[in-house]
Amino acid sequence: MKINTAEFIISNSDASKCPKEPLPEYAFIGRSNVGKSSLINMLTNHKNLAKTSGRPGKTQLINHFKINSNWFLVDLPGYGYARVSKKTKDVFQQFITDYFEKREQLVCAFVLIDIRLEAQKIDLDFINYLGEIEVPFCLIFTKADKISRGKIDAHVAAYRKALLANNWEEMPQHFVTSSLESTGRDELLAFIDDVNAQ
Ligand code: GTP
Ligand code: MG
Repeated sequence: MKINTAEFIISNSDASKCPKEPLPEYAFIGRSNVGKSSLINMLTNHKNLAKTSGRPGKTQLINHFKINSNWFLVDLPGYGYARVSKKTKDVFQQFITDYFEKREQLVCAFVLIDIRLEAQKIDLDFINYLGEIEVPFCLIFTKADKISRGKIDAHVAAYRKALLANNWEEMPQHFVTSSLESTGRDELLAFIDDVNAQ
């Protein structure tokens, strides 16, 4: 799929104020700093469409980006960022869970996982939560440029093992990406194209 246009539409902290148009949308979620905003920029071929930072906690709101005038990419705040206050954290979590539980336009969540790390409880908990609320999701392993190519399969296999140990029957659909090297871009866009066509 070719990305012809990518425009920022709105940021907010209230799922009920997200765009009303009945267009399919894909949301990026995962731990702070895992590379959600960078991946949106990589997919859309824009350097600064979504704000990124080396410091965790950059994205704090629900951000809608309209692509090719007919679907949305949604950048979300990360979870697991210890430095935000407990109160901010609760508000964060409430509007994020509202988003996942109420957003009818959401056709697929992309859960981002840093490919270098062993499976983290917080990610497994979030994946289990998506299962419970029956939101379709895929896994995206990020920062693949940070490990040697030969190790990628072993990291993915280790993650699969962790999921199976967490009562998942199979590995969900997954992608390996690097925003630095545009790895995985064609595969992800082809996936979105397919889902949009359904
Ligand atoms: P929050 O908004 O804080 O939740 O973070 P985020 O998940 O949106 O992460 P962001 O895209 O801001 O990236 C965090 C840091 O990781 C930045 O320094 C990025 O340059 C870096 N980064 C993101 N993706 C990649 C990647 O594929 N490869 C490498 N090497 N660095 C990356
Ligand atoms: Mg971000």
